[in-house]
Amino acid sequence: MKEVPIIEMKGIVKVYPDGTKALKGVDFSVKQGEIHGLLGENGAGKTTLMKILSGMLHPTEGKIYVRGKEVRFKSPADALANGIGMVHQHFTLVEVFDALHNIILGMEGHGLLSKINVDKAREKLKKLMEDLNFRVPLDVPVEDLPVGVQQRIEILKMLFRDVDVLILDEPTAVLTPIEVEELFAVLRKLKAEGKTIIFISHKLNEVMELTDRVTVLRKGEVVGTVKTSEATPQLLARMMVGRDVVLRIQKPPKEPGEPILRIENLWVKGDRGEDAVKDLAFEVRAGEIFGIAGVEGNGQTELIEAITGLRRPEKGRIILNDRDITGRPPKELYDAGMAHIPEDRTRMGLILDMTVTENAILGLQWRKEFQRWVGTVDWGKAKRHTEMLINEFEIVAPGVDAPVKSLSGGNQQKLIVAREVSKKPVLIIASQPTRGVDVASTEYIRNYLVKLRNEGKAVLLVSADLDEILQLSDRMGIMYEGEFMGIVKPEEVTTEEIGMMMGGIKYEELNK
Ligand SMILES: Nc1ncnc2c1ncn2[C@@H]1O[C@H](COP(=O)(O)OP(=O)(O)OP(=O)(O)O)[C@@H](O)[C@H]1O
Ligand SMILES: [Mg+2]
Repeated sequence: MKEVPIIEMKGIVKVYPDGTKALKGVDFSVKQGEIHGLLGENGAGKTTLMKILSGMLHPTEGKIYVRGKEVRFKSPADALANGIGMVHQHFTLVEVFDALHNIILGMEGHGLLSKINVDKAREKLKKLMEDLNFRVPLDVPVEDLPVGVQQRIEILKMLFRDVDVLILDEPTAVLTPIEVEELFAVLRKLKAEGKTIIFISHKLNEVMELTDRVTVLRKGEVVGTVKTSEATPQLLARMMVGRDVVLRIQKPPKEPGEPILRIENLWVKGDRGEDAVKDLAFEVRAGEIFGIAGVEGNGQTELIEAITGLRRPEKGRIILNDRDITGRPPKELYDAGMAHIPEDRTRMGLILDMTVTENAILGLQWRKEFQRWVGTVDWGKAKRHTEMLINEFEIVAPGVDAPVKSLSGGNQQKLIVAREVSKKPVLIIASQPTRGVDVASTEYIRNYLVKLRNEGKAVLLVSADLDEILQLSDRMGIMYEGEFMGIVKPEEVTTEEIGMMMGGIKYEELNK
């Protein structure tokens, strides 16, 4: 007898109000107790499909069955009542509440906010955290917690509601390698308890490691579902993109030139007044990619903010092309030839309510080439420029006049990269440039950074993705608590040695 799938979606079509057809008749089926990967390029429709399954969006057409029974979800509450819960790409916590109150939020209807019930909730949560070995501080405001912990809260929130099917939309994009391992351990435990997990990721090695089966979407349609044990990363990449993808980067040897960026004895304070960057010194030369590796939160953000003029250093100097730019405002730095791909694209990189064109020329609008007469932007030129970027970078967008928020996450990221390199900079600062970006676009962005380096530009790359740092960097600094544990060439060290430096052991001390 054929077992009934816990989830069955049939013929799902989704047309957004602006006419975008995000899903074109998708059939998707998930077995009880499996970890099911959902793969696809940026804009393929993964988030849309899962929002439909979790009751956030209504399908335009199609049917959903849970344990063989047809359901119609009016809201996420309906999906939850059927045991389905989703953790989103962008978190939805209330920042000023603590974890406990975020987790019970929305359950007040059950009389949960009375003192007794809050205490009961706390007990249940404690047991859950104990059983899973997955802990969060319950009484600290969420805004004071790192993203990795916020994500745990989102997951616990769903488990607290006793979901059977847990949907995770790119959960690892914001996690450090250690946090990823911890998350995987929890997901495996949940699977052993019979829970079903749907896991969206762009990282093929994660999908290979964790999942039982994988479904690949392309442009709103299902390409196929395969058993992970019968798949390879190459096969999955080909299914996603429709062609072979080079998973390794070609990087010819190159003698670097003059220093473009020099950092001298730099001290930068963090938000809490602590020394986030301590006496750091390094240089990035023309024709060189200098990578900064390290677990997030070791001063990388503060360092980049200081270099890009967003945070005032306490001591030390920042020199760009022999000019002291310490403490100068961002506009002046951009005029001096610096470009910046920021780590938080929705906060820093884009203005979500503005159009693709407006975002594409952000910071460039006063350049002569975009002026009709002094002080007026020539929108015709701006649009043509934007169309050129869209073509060159293969950005999927409904059009140059569409709001940028209607682009999928990865396409938003590509737009930022396109805009920044179109400024023709001498120094490109790339912070987490491929976070949340699909394999083909990742390949594109990485090759582009190498191309810029080959053309003699200086590239400063900060990434929590160690593979990315190792593949791209000519030299790399491993940052720990505001200092470099070593500056090395990738080929000089083993991954294990890098891991030890990331954990705070200095390079000189490694081989003693
Ligand atoms: N609110 C919206 N209005 C109009 N179009 C939208 C909206 N949300 C998403 N889209 C479009 O629907 C398509 C699918 O988007 P979706 O977010 O589901 O992709 P995704 O596979 O999750 O991509 P990513 O990997 O980048 O997160 C894209 O073309 C996107 O531009
Ligand atoms: Mg998505």
